[in-house]
Amino acid sequence: MFFGVVPMGRGSGFGKVILFGEHFVVHGVPGIVSAIDSTTDAEVKKIGEGITVRDERKGARGYTEKKRAQQKESIERMLKTMGIDPEKASLEIWLGGNLPSFSGIGASAASSVAIARAIAEEFEMVLSDEKINEIAYEAEKAYAGTPSGIDNTAATYGGLIWFKRNLSGGPNTIEKLSIREPVEIVIGNTGIVADTKEMVAGVAERRKRNPEKYNPLFKQAEDLAFTARKALKEFDLRKVGELMNENHRLLQEIEVSCKELDYLVNLAREQGAFGAKLTGGGGGGCMVALTPRRELQEAVATAMEKEGFRVLRTKIGIQKY
Ligand code: MEV
Repeated sequence: MFFGVVPMGRGSGFGKVILFGEHFVVHGVPGIVSAIDSTTDAEVKKIGEGITVRDERKGARGYTEKKRAQQKESIERMLKTMGIDPEKASLEIWLGGNLPSFSGIGASAASSVAIARAIAEEFEMVLSDEKINEIAYEAEKAYAGTPSGIDNTAATYGGLIWFKRNLSGGPNTIEKLSIREPVEIVIGNTGIVADTKEMVAGVAERRKRNPEKYNPLFKQAEDLAFTARKALKEFDLRKVGELMNENHRLLQEIEVSCKELDYLVNLAREQGAFGAKLTGGGGGGCMVALTPRRELQEAVATAMEKEGFRVLRTKIGIQKY
């Protein structure tokens, strides 16, 4: 009622699934990410006192509560980057949309992009996608500590993206990839709300402590990203699936998987998925299975649902939303 009368800013950001290279990408290894056809939407009004957030996203139980402090910090970071003093700002922020707030599918980045766009509109700022991406990257630091920038990039631009972080602080490599046609996937949610910041910091710490084990794994992840790029270009989906399996093994080696993720990955493979791996920060959150054609997608999704897990049926490589 209120929202229909008072002028407000609006914005959206895409959810995403990392197909190759999560965690490794933080350390400068290339990764491949696909936006999905679900968004977080935001509305912002200059009204009230202080900053209030009405978070109506549907998602994993406990997500909103667990992420509340990080969300507050992320909004403050965002406002500062936009030249707005968070101490003096009076804003009502509403969050919704059809992207569930599960860990691993870019819910935080999608919300940051959506909020940044909505604030820009409400403050009558005309900002390029590049600028929105920069603002969302600042916000992501609250959730991921030292984010690579892959999540906010997918949330801003959509599509299938080859991403490489520039470790010297220069511009990251962001290349749009195209595939012959979109391919069905299933995203399975363990229901565990994971802390990306802790997961990212854990990998960095273990790598520092044990370079003999970790450095060769990082090299394998790099080779794998290039091979996967070629397989996607050739639309060799069996190969893409095998490489996803291989990527999951590397993620297990760097200790970011967990028994629930391994369980869902195995279940998907048993049902005939071409490949399956955890996606995002791990430690809970989500996995992704490559399931070309509706029948296979349905078989994998139903098997997970029968076991009580929540799933998303979507596609990678969608060009138009
Ligand atoms: C989280 O979706 C992906 C990570 O690689 C963190 C990042 O790249 O910022 C774990």
